[in-house]
Amino acid sequence: MASGLRKGLTSYGDAGFSLFFRTAFIKAMGYSDDALDRPIIGITNTFSDFNPCHGNVPDLIEGIKRGVMLAGGLPMAFPTISIHEGFAHPTSMFLRNLMAMDTEEMIRAQPMDAVVLVGGCDKTLPAQLMAAASADIPAIVVPTGPMLVGHHRGQVLGACTDCRRLWAQYRAGTIDAAEIAEVSGRLAPTKGTCMVMGTASTVASMVEALGLCLPGGGTCPAVHAERVRIAEASGTAAVRLAAEGLRMRDILTPAALRNAWTVLQAIGGSTNALVHFTAVAGRLGIPVDLEAFDAIGREVPVLVDLKPSGEHYMEHLHHAGGISRLLRELAPLLDTTCRTVGGGTIADIIAGAEEVPGQDVIRPRDRPIMTGGGLAVLHGNLAPGSALIKRSAATPALLRHEGRAVVFESVGDMVERIDDEQVGIRADDVIVMRNAGPKGAPGMPEAGYIPIPRYLARAGVKDMVRLSDARMSGTAFGTIVLHLMPESAVGGPLGLVRTGDRIRLDAEARTLDLLVEEAELAARRAAWVPPARPPGGDRGYLKLYLDEVLQADQGCDFAFCLPPRQQPA
Ligand code: FES
Repeated sequence: MASGLRKGLTSYGDAGFSLFFRTAFIKAMGYSDDALDRPIIGITNTFSDFNPCHGNVPDLIEGIKRGVMLAGGLPMAFPTISIHEGFAHPTSMFLRNLMAMDTEEMIRAQPMDAVVLVGGCDKTLPAQLMAAASADIPAIVVPTGPMLVGHHRGQVLGACTDCRRLWAQYRAGTIDAAEIAEVSGRLAPTKGTCMVMGTASTVASMVEALGLCLPGGGTCPAVHAERVRIAEASGTAAVRLAAEGLRMRDILTPAALRNAWTVLQAIGGSTNALVHFTAVAGRLGIPVDLEAFDAIGREVPVLVDLKPSGEHYMEHLHHAGGISRLLRELAPLLDTTCRTVGGGTIADIIAGAEEVPGQDVIRPRDRPIMTGGGLAVLHGNLAPGSALIKRSAATPALLRHEGRAVVFESVGDMVERIDDEQVGIRADDVIVMRNAGPKGAPGMPEAGYIPIPRYLARAGVKDMVRLSDARMSGTAFGTIVLHLMPESAVGGPLGLVRTGDRIRLDAEARTLDLLVEEAELAARRAAWVPPARPPGGDRGYLKLYLDEVLQADQGCDFAFCLPPRQQPA
């Protein structure tokens, strides 16, 4: 098989001319024949002025290039789409599949023998993993890494759990406009990804547990010199992976995915990880069994004491021994024979884990933060497909709750009316929001963290049962049921709920039910009218998205991006 510069020649009808043309042009950059004869290691460059979570990418690329050259390869960085959570309208999730397609096609189109995926902000690593899985070439991940913590008036701050906590205090009137402005300069004190166990940290931790990055890659702070050394070592490893031809499908096996689900539960990780890794696994033809996922959740305790489920931050997890140390704690529950991009197995990673005396961030299994895992899969007549709740970030007393539904038709409707006292929401009500799923919003926004109505927050209400077909940021907390499937916009029963209905949640029994007679539901179903397409939905990427996006249980991937035998009829 062709390699290096000879790989994937541009079609001019004359292969010799194509190689001559390519070589002549790349020489304009000053490359020698010796350099151009080496294995080529592509490096995704996701630096963007709009993406502070990737602010250290230039340093990482320099480190990766050094490692590639030390091992005798030729590093070639290339740009791809970069997505930051706060700079993606209408939502970053809407763009994840576009980034996956862009990255996959750039990997395919350009000659490279392996690729180093440099990403970090929530949707970027999932998009890159989906791309590398489909492009089917050797790949290694270098996460950008978490920010260091911030400090404010004696408190330690973490983006973005504390963004939400302090904003809720501002809404409740307990802190004023001057203080919230001060806080905005302290929540994100360095480059890097959110430093709580949000989606970015969860995905990076799972990437490390999957063996797709080198030890420490999931947790080392973005601005530490150690991260650049990890980048350098990853460049070197990429040259070896290229020589061995070890691909993502050799590393991300069903057993490795099960290991990653175990780690997801043990870290009290983000609900979004289930959607993203379902999409990645789907690209490799690995089906995700939600019942098996929930069974892991019943067996695996939450061991990592990080916000939003616990107290600490990513840098503390790193200093406590990181994911390697956690894997040692979980070893009896893992398949330790799974291979890693570092050249060994998970057993080798565990053997090399550091024991840090006195650390209390990674708990032993006999002294967990919470028994029975962070995430639970629910079923019932309100979620015949499934729904998800992050138990570890919920109020225990609300995990079993029955209340009156108060319904909002959309994210916009919720924003407009949530603080209106005329709506009359009570503390024991169940707030319902619909048309916020993959197609309905569109883009399944992280709007599932429905705020407590201002008048209730001011009265001291800190949590309520809230449910929707939206997602929620991994940094958020509360008794919040998400990903109700099928979503209301495609006819799911969430679209049939009316204000005043009774809803019963029992997270321990894994049930979520609308307490309305079936005959009444049938009548409502017969009268249900699907929502109109959003403006602009008849052309371009929005049309492609609306036509092709799948539900959360298929990772919200595009149907046509799955391997042919996985595609829905
Ligand atoms: Fe990028 Fe949180 S906004 S990781």
